[in-house]
Amino acid sequence: MRSEHSTQKMDDRPARILLKRAEIQERIRSLGEQITLEMQGLTPCIMPILDGGMIFTSDLIRQISLPITLLPIKASSYGQERVSSGRLELPLGVSPLARDQDVLLVDDILDTGLTLTTLYSSLLAAGARSVRTCVLLRKQHAVHLHADYIGFDIPNEFVVGYGLDHAGHHRNLPDIRCLETRKNPKSLNQSS
Ligand code: XMP
Repeated sequence: MRSEHSTQKMDDRPARILLKRAEIQERIRSLGEQITLEMQGLTPCIMPILDGGMIFTSDLIRQISLPITLLPIKASSYGQERVSSGRLELPLGVSPLARDQDVLLVDDILDTGLTLTTLYSSLLAAGARSVRTCVLLRKQHAVHLHADYIGFDIPNEFVVGYGLDHAGHHRNLPDIRCLETRKNPKSLNQSS
């Protein structure tokens, strides 16, 4: 039988599992509890940063026991590459609906900080009442960067799965895996 992704023509393949689906879900459960406690009395406007933050957000909001609204925002700085272009593109801009909201920005990963820093100030400039930030992952070289809620600190590796992609692929993998080059590929059917 062909492996799950054997039809994808990629130079690199996701291999070693960094975070298993069960530990991701467990951490999201406690992040949801913490957000519920700390945003008590508010109606958070949850803002997933698309595309990467979409899957994390959909699990996170189901662990938040508060009335919420959902206002996705589209942002991109990576294109097809593994390194940030250093420029954040906001093809649809920042919604005027963010005005007077207590926004919780939700992204998959904190790397250079460009995405969160840019959106944080753009939202305040657009009239948001408050802006908090939540990321599932923070790379080691970003440990000096602040986010209000952080799922896991991880090594400086390029990771895919659970919403994270490489050139548009692998977002649907349930675990988070490191992307490795083809010279030592491992089958996705191997568990680690
Ligand atoms: P910045 O540099 O703005 O990065 O903090 C946030 C965005 O960069 C992308 N990114 C990655 N995507 N695997 C990915 O699939 C990675 O290891 C990775 N590192 C950064 C991601 O789109 C995130 O929203």
